Amino acid sequence: MNKKILIVGGAGFIGHNLALKLKQMGAKVAVIDSLTVNNLYSIKRNEDKVPFPKLSLKILDQRFSLLKSKKIIFKQINAQDFKALNKFVNEFKPKVVIHLAAVSHANKSNKFPLVTFNNSFVTLQNSLESIKNRVDHFIFLSSSMVYGDFKKQKVTEDEVCNPIGIYGALKFSAEKLIKAYGQVYNLPYTILRPSALYGERCISRRVGQIFIESAINKSKIIINGDGREKLDFTYIDDLVDGIICAIKSKNSFQEIFNLTYGSAQPINALIKIIKNNFSDVEVEYKKRGKLMPIRGTLDVKKAKRLIGYKPSWPLEKGYLAYIKWYKNFYKKFFII
Ligand SMILES: NC(=O)c1ccc[n+]([C@@H]2O[C@H](COP(=O)([O-])OP(=O)(O)OC[C@H]3O[C@@H](n4cnc5c(N)ncnc54)[C@H](O)[C@@H]3O)[C@@H](O)[C@H]2O)c1
Repeated sequence: MNKKILIVGGAGFIGHNLALKLKQMGAKVAVIDSLTVNNLYSIKRNEDKVPFPKLSLKILDQRFSLLKSKKIIFKQINAQDFKALNKFVNEFKPKVVIHLAAVSHANKSNKFPLVTFNNSFVTLQNSLESIKNRVDHFIFLSSSMVYGDFKKQKVTEDEVCNPIGIYGALKFSAEKLIKAYGQVYNLPYTILRPSALYGERCISRRVGQIFIESAINKSKIIINGDGREKLDFTYIDDLVDGIICAIKSKNSFQEIFNLTYGSAQPINALIKIIKNNFSDVEVEYKKRGKLMPIRGTLDVKKAKRLIGYKPSWPLEKGYLAYIKWYKNFYKKFFII
């Protein structure tokens, strides 16, 4: 793949993994990121009060050194600054732009709606404005949260969306805005809806990561709910492969795709894997928050049929790979 690809918000969990894979495939990749949300500066100040900030900083170190060693262009730009973003787009002249910049946590979005609006919606508007009429493809990472409570065991992309809370509402509004740019400016776009991601160098403190960190640090694992709630856990490699399928196929233009493993598993399935890989695991169940929608399986048939998506990391395989990486990383880098 010899395309010029710009990733906005590309120093995050998804972005840096995607940048590394694209570069490995021969693309010319540039990443811009403010490093202010769930990244270097917020972790240095421990704004989100994560329990192991030193560990997160070590993980970020590894992200940055990998990007550097693979010679991926990195520019620190706040995408809320239209002039700076536009200048970079003018210079780099990408053919594909992938927009990831956001506050990527539902809880934080409900606590800080304005910060979320500025980093998620304003950055999106700026990306669209700076690339309209001059790129071949715009890709946006939406979320399963646009659906709200799942009404069926499996949701397809044409399900009615009823998001709950700020995060889902902004993702749904973002989808509408992108479609409007498609109508008005003939922008070729693709909207992807991932869910419950886990994998190497994530610092977002979603369940998969929290459970491993708690088990390593011998602290109690807290589960909100009874653990029977199901999520469509998706390993980062499947998501990255799916994004690449979307980049490669023109069938992805003007389409929305669910992009998950495609089979929801109960949260307790993670606990089972954790217990098989760590000793003395203690679990406590607490009441779940009512603003978190009840989700489940996202049907990925459309992505399989139209763009050749082939998820290949079931939870038992992907979570094990992630645990293995975490244990090695911890041994090698983390000095308490
Ligand atoms: N991780 C998941 O499970 C998941 C699931 C569904 C959707 N998504 C979406 O995918 C996208 C990427 O998620 P992620 O997991 O990599 O999150 P992340 O928090 O790791 O990465 C987001 C990145 O965006 C950057 N950013 C935020 N505001 C910015 C700004 N104003 N200018 C420049 N950069 C800015 C942050 O610094 C961060 O590096 C997000 O839009 C998220 O909502 C993620």
